[in-house]
Amino acid sequence: MNGESRAARWPVFVALALLVLITVIFIIEFVLTTESELAAPTPVVLAADTYQATVAALLADADPANGAQWVEKYNCIACHRAGAENKIAPPFAGVADRASTRRPPLTASAYIYESITQPAAFVVDGFTPAMPQNYPDLLMEQELGDIIAYLLTPDAH
Ligand code: HEC
Repeated sequence: MNGESRAARWPVFVALALLVLITVIFIIEFVLTTESELAAPTPVVLAADTYQATVAALLADADPANGAQWVEKYNCIACHRAGAENKIAPPFAGVADRASTRRPPLTASAYIYESITQPAAFVVDGFTPAMPQNYPDLLMEQELGDIIAYLLTPDAH
């Protein structure tokens, strides 16, 4: 093999190396973006019992009074209370009543669950999809249940 043909091959090696690199990056991305277990995948067809099993488990021993503290701790109120006047986000007040009509046939609790774990799945009319998407990673299961329980009470604000 003479020097010339060896030199002619190096672009092939560079291309192969790049291909391997891109494959590795792709695999790492895939592993990192695999959804947290708190967020069930968004179903294509919604039914009255969509998310119900997950939500029932979350609500089984939920405490709405603690939920009221978590919405402060996680600063949900920055958008949903303080920012509500500027139409940054819908206010929490009255959400329990609205929740069952927002996205039929989802029940109120299923809708609230989806709103927190997959905010982009449905965007309330008149608002932008500005809600952070990482709450499934931040919230403990107990906290998520407490928050849903709190938002289902007429005291939510
Ligand atoms: C940066 C602003 C922001 C923060 C912080 C935020 N949200 Fe939201 N949220 C929004 C916006 C904007 C919407 C409406 C658009 C949409 O449907 O995604 C929304 C929608 C919702 C809805 C549906 C309300 C309705 O009337 O239909 C619920 C429930 C909700 N958020 C809960 C939460 C909870 C719980 C937290 C904290 C853990 C939180 N949000 C934090 C911006 C925010």
